[in-house]
Amino acid sequence: MPRTVYVNGEFLPEAEATISVFDRGFLFADAVYEVVSVLGGRLVDFDGHAQRLERSLSELAMPVPLSRDALLEVMRRLTVENGIEDGLIYLQITRGAADRDFAYPDPDTPQTVVLFTQSKPGLADAPAARTGLKVATCPDLRWGRRDIKTVQLLYPSMAKMAAREQGADDAWMVEDGAVTEGTSNNAYIVRGGVIVTRQLGSEILHGITRAAVLRLAREAQMTVEERPFTVEEAQSADEAFVTSASAFVMPVVEIDGRPVADGTPGPVARRLREIYIEESRKAAL
Ligand code: PDD
Repeated sequence: MPRTVYVNGEFLPEAEATISVFDRGFLFADAVYEVVSVLGGRLVDFDGHAQRLERSLSELAMPVPLSRDALLEVMRRLTVENGIEDGLIYLQITRGAADRDFAYPDPDTPQTVVLFTQSKPGLADAPAARTGLKVATCPDLRWGRRDIKTVQLLYPSMAKMAAREQGADDAWMVEDGAVTEGTSNNAYIVRGGVIVTRQLGSEILHGITRAAVLRLAREAQMTVEERPFTVEEAQSADEAFVTSASAFVMPVVEIDGRPVADGTPGPVARRLREIYIEESRKAAL
């Protein structure tokens, strides 16, 4: 079954959907995106993603082309039309198509809005959650505004490939001696019962899953410290894990070839994963 995708106000079979070769998303990565997970046919943390999207657009002086209600309607329709029970919705908004020029085009240039779904049956039961991920570290060579969710993802792709070449599943990026985040997730360690994750700033993406997981951890009386941590601290931690809209809470069991504790998923990560998935299912729209 071909998917139905959304392009600039139309719902079309994927093979009929087109955008211009002059699109600034294509030429300049002049675009922002969001990934929203779907559990049981409903959207997880729609409001959080919509709010971050509006902030990303505003930081790049782009208007918000779709109201929150309209966006929710589009996402719901795609979920239904594509029969998505568990999966992801990808959204991208670009500054639109114009003759190639570094200067932004006329502000009246229509933006490009694209949404599509990816079916991931059993998303919440990913086998990786039982075994945990291996990560390899690399320098963080991304630009300085990682708090804006732009589509400039080449360096994280390169980092992921480099990690795979070393036999790992993903990369953790390191800057000034401290871990910033994973290629497409936020990074955490647990030491002496305390959950440690880097504080918000322009060095990392402000994860929507991160916000929910930290709130749930605090509600469960767990202690959270928001500060940078080093690779050595992570390797000698009791646990490590990552969070994202597509992975939820995912244990990390090895860092640069060194097992974290006994090299199996730890109790804090497992518990947080359980709580997060349960609460997300309840609150999903
Ligand atoms: N990535 N950090 C980075 C660099 C990310 O790309 C992501 C998300 C996160 C986690 O954010 P959230 O919890 O809001 O998903 C952190 C998405 C899933 C992706 O690019 O596919």
